[in-house]
Amino acid sequence: MVIGVPKEIKNNENRVALTPAGVTELRKHGHTVYVQVNAGEGSGFEDEEYIAAGAIMLPTIEAVYNIAEMIMKVKEPIASEYDLIKQDQLLFTYFHFASSEELTQAMLAKGAVCLAYETVERPDRSLPLLVPMSEVAGRMAVQEGAKYLEKPLKGRGILLGGVPGVKPANVLILGGGIVGTQAAKMAAGLGAHVTIMDVSLARLRYLSDIMPPNVQTMMSNEYNIREMIKVCDLIVGAVLIPGAKAPHLITREMLKLMRAGTVLVDVAVDQGGCIETCSPTTHENPTFIIDGVVHYCVANMPGAVPYTSTLALTNATLPYALQLANKGWQQACRDNSDLKLGLNVVDGKIVYKGVADAFNLPLTDVSTVLTEEEMA
Ligand SMILES: NC(=O)c1ccc[n+]([C@@H]2O[C@H](COP(=O)([O-])OP(=O)(O)OC[C@H]3O[C@@H](n4cnc5c(N)ncnc54)[C@H](O)[C@@H]3O)[C@@H](O)[C@H]2O)c1
Repeated sequence: MVIGVPKEIKNNENRVALTPAGVTELRKHGHTVYVQVNAGEGSGFEDEEYIAAGAIMLPTIEAVYNIAEMIMKVKEPIASEYDLIKQDQLLFTYFHFASSEELTQAMLAKGAVCLAYETVERPDRSLPLLVPMSEVAGRMAVQEGAKYLEKPLKGRGILLGGVPGVKPANVLILGGGIVGTQAAKMAAGLGAHVTIMDVSLARLRYLSDIMPPNVQTMMSNEYNIREMIKVCDLIVGAVLIPGAKAPHLITREMLKLMRAGTVLVDVAVDQGGCIETCSPTTHENPTFIIDGVVHYCVANMPGAVPYTSTLALTNATLPYALQLANKGWQQACRDNSDLKLGLNVVDGKIVYKGVADAFNLPLTDVSTVLTEEEMA
């Protein structure tokens, strides 16, 4: 298959969809890979590394879209890319269709095959192409929290791990899923005293088994949260209720229970946030202060560490990309239900219920596009 990797052009997006290591793998299976000049620059991969791995560099984004049967990207195409997309071209990237009718209509009009990273789903309902970014954000939450606890950045001026003779900081993590677990590991590793809260007793049992002794678990409820926020220095919001807005576990009025300089890192801000006073911020201006409490609410945390994020993402996407390239998208989706669930828009039809529901548009049964005569 002919694969194209354009440079990401969305504002502040430094990741790239394929590393030189990925090029080597695809080449080993007999595929041809075209990469746009400078595509890997933001993630620290030079053109020479792609060339050494067997990629052919193309000078423009137009040339990449023009030649490729499968386009591998990170973010959804933006308006200036719409006209570059060809009928039946396979696009493998994050789309988040439900948040943009304009994008959905554009892809329907183009007749492309849109396989969305975010809806690729394992039989156990986990989302293998979202997990890596949660892992990055969870680990980063503590790194950022530790930084903003420093006095010059308006924090309490407390070192997470303390020092011999001085007790460590208290860290509270709301939600013990992927983000929360990674945050807890980081905070515990730095020597902080960590509490993870979740509503799932089964999850708390599991965490209690695997976490080191400086991590304790606690049922998430309003009473416990009120008690804990009085004594915590760093609070990480990592709650998710699939398909819904995050619940406001910390309300505006509860801020007055906290000590000045407490830091809140609301990772769940992309789903509305689990702290009422959080609203999305950017890496240029990541924090704001309300009632002396520092709020860090960057909605795309992995964007600040594109090298790690690119490797984490491509580790997860490459095995799927290989299946798509080796078999063609129809056979790959027939053989692998994870990939089949990734199909959102195909040949002018919406085949993913969440997208059809979001805009009240007709839904086509995905099996009809998989049994049609072989397409691209
Ligand atoms: N800001 C960013 O850059 C960024 C990056 C990645 C992920 N995220 C977001 O982080 C959030 C968490 O993602 P995840 O992958 O860890 O999800 P997850 O599904 O793995 O974990 C969520 C956890 O929240 C728990 N939960 C639900 N209601 C709760 C409550 N009332 N109190 C305490 N816990 C509760 C669930 O039981 C689950 O264990 C999501 O909103 C995700 O979109 C943000």
